[in-house]
Amino acid sequence: MSEANSQEIVEKLDRIVMNVNQRSFNPLLWPDWIYKRTQMYQEEIEFEGKVSKLIERIVHRKTTEINRSATWRQSAKLGCKDKKSLLDMLVERKLMGELDMTAEDILTETVTMFGTAIHTPPLTVSFILKVLSLRPDIQERVYTEICDVFHEEQKEWSYDDLSRLQYMDRVINETLRMFPVGPFILREVKKDMKIDNKHIPAGTILMLNIMGVHRSDRYHKDPLHFDPDRFLPERAGDIHPYSFLPFSSGPRNCIGQPLGWMMVKTLLVTTLRAFEIFPVADGVTDPSQFEINMDLMIHYVGGAKVRLVPRKASLLAAREANANDIYYTILCVL
Ligand code: HEM
Repeated sequence: MSEANSQEIVEKLDRIVMNVNQRSFNPLLWPDWIYKRTQMYQEEIEFEGKVSKLIERIVHRKTTEINRSATWRQSAKLGCKDKKSLLDMLVERKLMGELDMTAEDILTETVTMFGTAIHTPPLTVSFILKVLSLRPDIQERVYTEICDVFHEEQKEWSYDDLSRLQYMDRVINETLRMFPVGPFILREVKKDMKIDNKHIPAGTILMLNIMGVHRSDRYHKDPLHFDPDRFLPERAGDIHPYSFLPFSSGPRNCIGQPLGWMMVKTLLVTTLRAFEIFPVADGVTDPSQFEINMDLMIHYVGGAKVRLVPRKASLLAAREANANDIYYTILCVL
């Protein structure tokens, strides 16, 4: 097998995700004896081999770097707070014998953390901005709340500042209800069980359809209507805790929820303070018409396109001419 190359792996990853997706939705590919005869399986094996080699190389390099640094053992013991990456910390703990993980476990955890953290918040923001472009009433409320919480010149903000943006919380919740970027989760059944009188044998992989639950009128009134106020505290009783699961639930739920929430809010505050969001002429007039495709996450087909008009300029533009002609920017988050 050729030498592992990170660029090549990044490029192949999309293909592998597509294969996983194709297999998940095609029962003919479920039995291993069929799947193992396919081109997809060959690609998977080749990919796994390359990833393992890359993992070995990275962890080996980190271990050598850390071992070379004369002070690491002492500083780790003293709990020194110099800036370390997650990978540094895990490798250090392993060298100190405090962590029962293989090199592969360490890198898999790091990659999972990185992979989930970089995709989910921007995807969520892309859906929110697309909604705001079509619903100026909601955009105005979000912007007014930002202006109430932040001074005009404020460049930095705290967790507490972000917590005061409560209407924004509702808009994020409602977006994640209609567009949960993690649309389903998978669980392996450990013991034989019954659901709705149907026997589910141990070893079955269950796909839990989060998006289906979020859009079911059994659990949400008028589910295709975008209404942030369904998340008002006084209406909390209307939403069963297991009918709204954008971060999943149980022992394997999302560990990055608080960070993800702050990332989404920070992106929204930064964008909305600088720009007003307008729709593009794509014929879409309501969030219920969004065209979505799904692999392990959901994406707006072709990217969620909106027009961003700088706020200060938009006042001028509104006075002088048609704003659409003056500033025309397309935001396309994949
Ligand atoms: C809007 C942002 C986010 C959303 C909607 C989201 C959603 C999810 C969902 C649905 C799962 C699947 C859990 C399951 O299988 O039950 C998950 C898992 C996970 N998320 Fe997030 N996530 C977000 C942000 C983040 C961030 C910022 C991080 C990084 C710190 C992160 C780290 C993880 C990890 C490590 C897992 C795997 C947990 C495990 O298997 O035990 N997520 N996330």
